[in-house]
Amino acid sequence: MKISPSILSADFTKLTAELKALEDAKADYVHVDVMDGRFVPNITIGPFIVEALKRATSLPLDVHLMIEEPERYIADFVKAGSDIITVHVEATKHLHKVVQSIKDLGVKAGVSMNPASSVHTIEDIIHDLDMILVMSVNPGFSGQGFIPGSINKIAAVRKMIDESGKMIELEVDGGIKVSNIKEVARAGADVFVSGSGVFGTPDYRKTIEAMRKEVESLTAKA
Ligand code: DX5
Ligand code: ZN
Repeated sequence: MKISPSILSADFTKLTAELKALEDAKADYVHVDVMDGRFVPNITIGPFIVEALKRATSLPLDVHLMIEEPERYIADFVKAGSDIITVHVEATKHLHKVVQSIKDLGVKAGVSMNPASSVHTIEDIIHDLDMILVMSVNPGFSGQGFIPGSINKIAAVRKMIDESGKMIELEVDGGIKVSNIKEVARAGADVFVSGSGVFGTPDYRKTIEAMRKEVESLTAKA
């Protein structure tokens, strides 16, 4: 299992300290939410900040592009130091081509689905993916509540990944906290994004430890 805290919920006046705190807390990735004010209403981080994050941490950057026509910016986000780039099925007419271009540039490729998008949208591309990201909130803002219907979708994607026989990470993003992470893990997720669930707590290390414990208690019982 991996924990990928979303830097969007960090204090941007002290990013270096926040990244250091995530390293001390043994986070696995740093989740970077890129929003363009078109695909989602909010505007957040661009390649310039990703490049600064890269210089400030040794943790892999898990870059989530919530932007229209992500093909326009893949090269920039690769150059900025992204380790994984995830694009949305809803944001491009040429998903296969975008995924190939991410991989051709030597970066891991992920695809994400909004809550209303069917798992079938990734069926024909699954063999090319390193990660599938199931959105458990409508993208755009941190601090929203987990959509309960996401559990069935996570389970369906888990099944697809197992049947594909490929090593594909199943990431879930939105509304994950210590209190519900176990349920998300039980459905089959193995990478957990958490913004307010980590940064909204006083001790990131304790929170991440508690999240791991919740998930591990599941495997212990199984
Ligand atoms: C939503 C973003 C999420 C979000 C997570 O558009 O993709 O990564 O910041 O924040 P929480 O965990 O607070 O829902
Ligand atoms: Zn995200």
